[in-house]
Amino acid sequence: MATYRVDLRSDTVTTPSDAMRRAMAEAEVGDDWYGDDPTVNRLQERAAEITGKEAALFVPTGTMANQIGLRLHFTGGGHLVVAEAGAHVATTEVMSSAVLSGIAYKAIETEGGRHMTAEQVARAVAPDTVYDVEVVDLVCVENTRGSAGGRVFPIEEIRAIRKVAEEADVPVHLDGARIFNASVASGVPVSEYAAEVDTLMFCVSKGLGAPIGSLVCGTAEAIREARRIKILFGGAWRQAGIVAAAGIVALEEGPRRLHEDHERAGRLARGVAEVFPDAIDPATVETNIVLVDTEAVGLDPIGVRRRMMDDGVGCTIEAGKVRMVTHLGIDDEDVETALAAWRNVAGAAR
Ligand SMILES: Cc1ncc(COP(=O)(O)O)c(C=O)c1O
Repeated sequence: MATYRVDLRSDTVTTPSDAMRRAMAEAEVGDDWYGDDPTVNRLQERAAEITGKEAALFVPTGTMANQIGLRLHFTGGGHLVVAEAGAHVATTEVMSSAVLSGIAYKAIETEGGRHMTAEQVARAVAPDTVYDVEVVDLVCVENTRGSAGGRVFPIEEIRAIRKVAEEADVPVHLDGARIFNASVASGVPVSEYAAEVDTLMFCVSKGLGAPIGSLVCGTAEAIREARRIKILFGGAWRQAGIVAAAGIVALEEGPRRLHEDHERAGRLARGVAEVFPDAIDPATVETNIVLVDTEAVGLDPIGVRRRMMDDGVGCTIEAGKVRMVTHLGIDDEDVETALAAWRNVAGAAR
């Protein structure tokens, strides 16, 4: 197992805070299959409150949350979902979507990190006038947009997409794995994003800092059905209050400190730009993800990642770029350590 002095691979690598561990140890629990885990129920009520949706459902992973959210919108197989080509549902989850719900994606290509537009969605949902085969059943938006380096999907564009989808009678699902990052960066409340979609999911296991868990949110009727699908997908997880307790703390504490992650990501981006100006535009770093296009400066991202590892800095590769993600386990000194590693990469490249 590789260990890192500074682990920037993802905001999922955090370990629970003391407050979370205490809450977990003291959690009142019950069997969630029967809906009688009081701590799970409390987390679900809080999630519904924050998002402004009628109800919410606590599930183990973001992938399961998305898969339940997608499945809610149709029965049987053979469905077409519109999403950005780089969206998590259309990339990492493409096989889950195909196997669990018979979904294929109408993937929208976007240039230079830009978001999908309402105009593109309008074209995608327009009826197939020849055979009526390519009928779109759902539009999925992601916020923040992971493959674009955590950029915020502007609320105005989501509203325009919602309008286009509504006119075509197509529902909208939001992959809001990092919607709290979007909200903190934009100043738009999570409930405003949620108001523009039929269903959404968000993760407490990412920047908010909980060890495990995501929530699917929607109408009471949709969430009743979501409970059935969760059991169908093998997600009835009994005394889940043990982890829900940490989720409640994460919802309370997490949003208050996300701006620190964003500031540190900005500092990282500016520092990398000092040594590799053509590899990153710091202005594109809006939240906690930094993508460095090392190929633009003639460096193979795999080699760069290896060199960073030699200096004890963990990063990953996303869409051919070196990816670093800030989180509650990263402090100012860690940012300096990572930047020293980047200077070593630059030194070795000369
Ligand atoms: C945008 C997005 N959606 C969904 C997921 C899936 O979450 P999980 O890893 O908990 O299944 C991720 C995970 O990285 C993600 O980045």
